[in-house]
Amino acid sequence: MTDQSIQSVLNENRVFAPPAPSEVGTDRWLISSLDHYNELYTKSIEQPEQFWGEIAEEFHWFKKWDSVLEWNAPDAKWFSGGQTNVCYNCVDKQVEDGFGDQPAIVWEGEPVDDSGNPVDQRRLTYKELQTEVSKLANVLKSHGIGKGDIVTIYMGMVPELAIAMLACARIGAPHSVIFGGFSAQAIADRVTDASSKMIITCDGSWRRGKVVPLKDNVDEAIKLMEDSGSQPVEHVLCFGRCHNDIKWGALDRCWHESMDNASDDCPCEPMESEDMLFLLYTSGSTGKPKGIVHTTAGYMLHTAMTSKYTFNLIPDQNQVFWCTADCGWITGHSYIVYGILPNRVPTLMFEGGPDYPTASRFWQIVDRHQVTQFYTAPTAIRAFMKWGDEHPESCDLSSLQVLGTVGEPINPEAWMWYRDKIGRGVCPIVDTYWQTETGGHVITPLPGATPTKPGSCTLPMLGIDAAVTDELGNEAKENEGGLMAIRKPWPSMLRGVYGDRQRFIDTYWSTVSKDGKPYYAAGDGARRDEMGNFWIMGRTDDVINVSGHRLGTMEVESALVAHESVVEAAVVGMPHEIKGTGIAAFVTPAPGFEGNDELMQSLREHVAKDIGAIAKPDMIRFTAALPKTRSGKIMRRLLRSIAAGDTEITQDITTLEDLSVVANLAQKDE
Ligand code: WTA
Repeated sequence: MTDQSIQSVLNENRVFAPPAPSEVGTDRWLISSLDHYNELYTKSIEQPEQFWGEIAEEFHWFKKWDSVLEWNAPDAKWFSGGQTNVCYNCVDKQVEDGFGDQPAIVWEGEPVDDSGNPVDQRRLTYKELQTEVSKLANVLKSHGIGKGDIVTIYMGMVPELAIAMLACARIGAPHSVIFGGFSAQAIADRVTDASSKMIITCDGSWRRGKVVPLKDNVDEAIKLMEDSGSQPVEHVLCFGRCHNDIKWGALDRCWHESMDNASDDCPCEPMESEDMLFLLYTSGSTGKPKGIVHTTAGYMLHTAMTSKYTFNLIPDQNQVFWCTADCGWITGHSYIVYGILPNRVPTLMFEGGPDYPTASRFWQIVDRHQVTQFYTAPTAIRAFMKWGDEHPESCDLSSLQVLGTVGEPINPEAWMWYRDKIGRGVCPIVDTYWQTETGGHVITPLPGATPTKPGSCTLPMLGIDAAVTDELGNEAKENEGGLMAIRKPWPSMLRGVYGDRQRFIDTYWSTVSKDGKPYYAAGDGARRDEMGNFWIMGRTDDVINVSGHRLGTMEVESALVAHESVVEAAVVGMPHEIKGTGIAAFVTPAPGFEGNDELMQSLREHVAKDIGAIAKPDMIRFTAALPKTRSGKIMRRLLRSIAAGDTEITQDITTLEDLSVVANLAQKDE
C-alpha cells in the first residue's frame, strides 16, 4: 500500500473484518464471529461463576474450590477454598499429560557470529524446564526461602529468568521482578519495600552489543541499603551469562555450583487460591513506585484464557508465540511466562535489542523460528517504520497469523504499516489495552471475531464489565470522553498495593456508582464510539507512557530535586515521534548554578542513575520560576502545552500568579 492509499483508508475511518482462518494459515479461529463473542461475553458477565468455573475445570487443583467468587468491594476472593499451583499448571501438567518432549521455551541470545547468525540458541522442553525449575526451587529452599518469602529477580532475558519465576511459584515464594534497565537506587527502593531476603541476578546481560552490568548494580544497591541502615538481603544468587568480571562477596552464591548439587525432585507446593503469586512495582502519581499484588488462581486463569483467545493459541499446530517485552514488566509476566505455558504453545524469549546487529533482527527471528503470533509495542513499530521497509522485506514473514500491540495507544499510521508490511495486509491486529493492575487483557479485539479500526482497542475481553463513566460513575454518552472504569471484579485484578491498603483504596476504588457500588478506576481517559469500540485517550493522572514504559512524572521530579543544583522541578509528557510520549523537565537552578548544556547533561545522567536510562528527560528547560496558581500549584497543563511547542498560549491563565514566568518560558520557544 502506498502512503497515499494508507491515508485514504484512515480518512474513510475504515473497518477491517476478521480474515478467514485460511488467509493467515491457521485452520480455525477459536472465537469465530461477533455473535460467538457476544454469546460468550454475555455469559461471562451474567453468569460469571459458571463461566469461570468451567475454565477452572481445565486446570489442575490439589483441592477443588468451595466458591468461585466472594466480592466484598474492594476485596475479591476468587476460588476460595481451592488449592492449586501456577508452576504445576505451566510445566508439570504438560509433562503429566504426556507432552514432556514438546518445546516450552525457545530462546535466542543477542550475540551473532561473523555471518550474522546467533551464537546462543536454546530450546527447553517441558520436561527439561521441569528439571531446571525443580533444581532451582531446591536451591532456593536450601537458602532458607519458603512459602511467603519475597524473592527479588533482576536478570536479563535468558531462560533462567523464567526458570527463576517458576521456581518461586513452585515453592510459594512470591517474586518481585525488577526490569534490568533500572538503577541500583531503584533496586534498593524495591528490595527494601518488599523486605526481600534474596536476590537472583546475572553477571550481566547483552544489550545492543554491550554488557549491562547487572551484578554490579546489585552490589551497589546492597551498599546503598547498608548505608541507609536497612539491608534485608541474606543471599544473592548469580547466574553467569556474559563472562563479565564480578566481585564475589560474602552474600553471593554461584547459580551453576548450586544447581550442580541440587536434586531435581521438588514437588509443587499446594497454594491457596488467594496466596500471593508475585509483587510487581509500577509507577503511580506519587514519587514512590507501588508494589502491585497478584494472587494465584485468578491470575492464572485470566492470563491463560486471554492468551488463548486473544492470540488464538492452539497446541500441536506448530505455533510459536513471541512477545518482545521484557519479563521485568507485566507484559512479560503474563504473556511470556504465565499465560502462554499452560496453552502448550512454545514461548520465544529474545535477549537483545531490536536493531542489533541490524534493524532486521526481529524479522530474522520471526523467519528463523517461524513465529506465528507476534506481540510488541507501538513505539517499536514506529521505530521499524523509520528504519525502512527493506528490513521486513528481506525476511520471510509468512508464518505470522496474529499481530498484537500493547503499552500505549497506537497511532493509526503505525497500525496500518504493521498490518501491511508485517501482516501481509491480512493478519488481524489485536490492540490490547490493560495494565499492571489488571493482570491481563481487559479491552481487545479477538482475531477471528472482532472488526477492527486502526487506533481502537475495540471491545471488552470476556469477563470484563468495562465502561466509560464520568467522575460520579454515570456512563458517558456515545463518543463522549470520560474515565475508563471496570464495574465488576475479574479474576486477575490486583488484590492490593503492598503494605499500603489506603493507597489501594484511594487510587482505584474511590469512584462509586449511584447505587453505591465502587468501580475500579483505571486512570485512563476513554470514549466509546457508535460501534461500542473503546478508544483510549491517555492517562488522567501524573503517569506517562514513555516508549510503552510506565513512569510517574513525580518520580522524575524527585530525582531532579535531589540534585544539589536544583531548587524546583516540574516534569510533564510531551509528544515524541518514536517514544509516543517524551519527558520534558522544567528546572529552576539553585543560586550559584547556571542553566547551561553541561548542567543539562549532568542532570540527565543523574536521573539515569537514580531511576534508570528510560527516565532521562528528552528536554530540559531552565527557568527562574515555574508557573504557579495563586494557591501555589504548578500549572502542569500550561507546561504541557509549552513542551508540546504551542507558541500561543490558549489556556486560561487567569489564576497564574506571575504572568512574566510564562512570557519567559514561551519566549525561549521562538
Ligand atoms: C497504557 C502495560 C492504549 C494505559 C500492559 C495503561 C494502553 C497503561 C494500551 C498501563 C493500549 C496499555 N492502548 N493505552 N492498547 N495498553 N496502555 O501498567 O495508559 O505498564 O493505563 O501495563 O498503559 O501500563 P502498564
